[in-house]
Amino acid sequence: MYEVGPRDGLQNEAETLSVDVKVAFIDQLTESGLPAIEVGSFVSPRSIPQLADTEEVFRRIRRASGVRYPALVPNLKGLERALEVGVLEIAVFTAASETFNRHNINAGVDESIERFRPVVARAREAGIRVRGYVSTAFGCPYEGAVSPEAVREVVHKLLDLPVDEISLGDTIGVATPAAVYDVVETLYESGVTRGVIALHFHDTRGTALANVYAGMECGIATFDASAGGLGGCPYAPGAAGNLATEDLIYLLEGLGIETGVRLDKLVEASRSLSQAIGHRPPGRYLAAVWEGRGDLPAGT
Ligand code: HMG
Ligand code: MG
Repeated sequence: MYEVGPRDGLQNEAETLSVDVKVAFIDQLTESGLPAIEVGSFVSPRSIPQLADTEEVFRRIRRASGVRYPALVPNLKGLERALEVGVLEIAVFTAASETFNRHNINAGVDESIERFRPVVARAREAGIRVRGYVSTAFGCPYEGAVSPEAVREVVHKLLDLPVDEISLGDTIGVATPAAVYDVVETLYESGVTRGVIALHFHDTRGTALANVYAGMECGIATFDASAGGLGGCPYAPGAAGNLATEDLIYLLEGLGIETGVRLDKLVEASRSLSQAIGHRPPGRYLAAVWEGRGDLPAGT
């Protein structure tokens, strides 16, 4: 499990939360036993004002040993900022479609790969692990359908940089299990090994858990999710929340897969956060647990 709540979740909230709230949220996520927690982004504060204080958040969170705390980095400036606060893992991010990428990071796909080249080189020199996100891997808000071949092309460009892991993003939540088989099989046929692939589903159309199951059938073992199911990209019209971490854990535990994550602690983290943001996150497990308790702000 790769938790993206503090980054993907909070980047899409209307309000910018205080550093105190973010730190408390991340510390609670750590206590729940999650193995990897994406803390924030070192991007332009004009693009994502909600995460402009990521340095301060990094300085103040309690980093537990054995837990990974990555952050998004779009360019060398972002890497400098990350290095300054002792970040040990970064994620660069591009897309399988040109138009989304231009809206999101003001670069075409090939241009973004060139921008990442010195970032990855410097990161690797510093012993930093690098994840590469491929957004719009299952569909683009501007261009519509995206072919598995387009995904394959950008995945290989990222692997050649090289990055250690690829997360395939269903940015606007249009994937279905058939599309997951299609994209993943296309990657396997081109020589990509299962161990480098992670899947990142948004749950806009309710298919995220089914897509995870399809991914597991393909042998994939890393899944991104967001506490409470918050999330979305401000540059992807129509994007809704991520797959909720609670829902993912409930599924995995039900399948007999031990996660090491305490669901009750995770629920506490999401509940505290919901009070700070003033609305109820969309996760289904949370709704089931909380229904009738009356201690939550009304649903959105
Ligand atoms: P640009 O305007 O082309 O950049 O933006 P620039 O290099 O020309 O710089 C413009 C200004 O930004 C300058 O400031 C720079 O200093 C500043 P000025 O001189 O005008 O005052 N700047 C920075 N400041 C702080 N940190 C930095 C930085 N870089 C430049 N690192 C850029 C290009 C990539 C910077 C911008 O478009 C950007 O920050 N985009 C980030 C967008 C973003 O974070 N999107 C959400 C994350 S992706 C996502 O959610 C998808 C995912 O979840 C997977 C999925 O679901 O698909 C990962
Ligand atoms: Mg996302």
